Amino acid sequence: MSAAAALLPILRRVEELRAATLPWRRAGQTIGLVPTMGALHAGHLALLGRAVADCDRAVATIFVNPKQFDRKEDLSRYPRDETRDTRLLAEHRCDLLFAPQVEAMYPPGFASTVGVTGVSDVLEGLYRPGHFNGVTTVVCKLLLQAQPDRAYFGEKDYQQLTVVKRMVRDLDIPVEIVPVATVREADGLALSSRNVNLTPAQRAVAPLLHRVMTEIAEELADGQTPATLLLPEGQQRLGSAGFTKIDYLALHAADDLTPLLRVDRPARLFAAAWLGKTRLIDNIAVESS
Ligand code: PAF
Repeated sequence: MSAAAALLPILRRVEELRAATLPWRRAGQTIGLVPTMGALHAGHLALLGRAVADCDRAVATIFVNPKQFDRKEDLSRYPRDETRDTRLLAEHRCDLLFAPQVEAMYPPGFASTVGVTGVSDVLEGLYRPGHFNGVTTVVCKLLLQAQPDRAYFGEKDYQQLTVVKRMVRDLDIPVEIVPVATVREADGLALSSRNVNLTPAQRAVAPLLHRVMTEIAEELADGQTPATLLLPEGQQRLGSAGFTKIDYLALHAADDLTPLLRVDRPARLFAAAWLGKTRLIDNIAVESS
């Protein structure tokens, strides 16, 4: 264990988290929360960097939440390396890691679900039944457990960010949700913990998702060709590039995720596509030119 990692408290139980954060709150210190499922990469560290810059204390959580996995295989393949994650968090000035076991989050008899209708039902909601209920249930719990002033979510999972914002607004949870821009590799591939599952051949194809999306977004913004032509053409291009299945390439409103046929308000282009057993998702802003 590195010297920095040795100094990072790792707490497993909710009572320990409450006891550790109470003195900070009493002293008037602000707390920033960075919820993660571990397998940390530069995208997570960007969230932590914002929390460290904005708040007096930064708390990270690592919990591979079984309730948000719609496929057993995805859960079993999800990468885990707490030793490495702990070192990275400590080196990036995290004050505390909350890494509970499943039984601490979902004790026997656990029977509650937090769900957000509408914004959860499109895009990922159509392909991953129950996923967002799993996300909102665990995020609601983490917010109640850590009681942060701010919580940081990546735009890489833009729909998740939108769903969490709506939950916080609807349930009057006293926290500011702070969006952080997607971090990309030099070739455009959005960072994701699942990227480690790509074979070298799949990794070579993966950046084409962002490239095709960028080109389609420019044409959508231009407004000359209808989305009804551009989106199927984009799907075809992804298929020809080597993506084995395309779940969707779709234009939606940036605020409430209403499906759009033209860019008549701030919009985002969303995609989900498979390379073998690995599913990539991405999204980019589309502003009319
Ligand atoms: O984005 C993630 O890593 C997860 O969905 C989150 C927000 C940590 C909830 O499990």
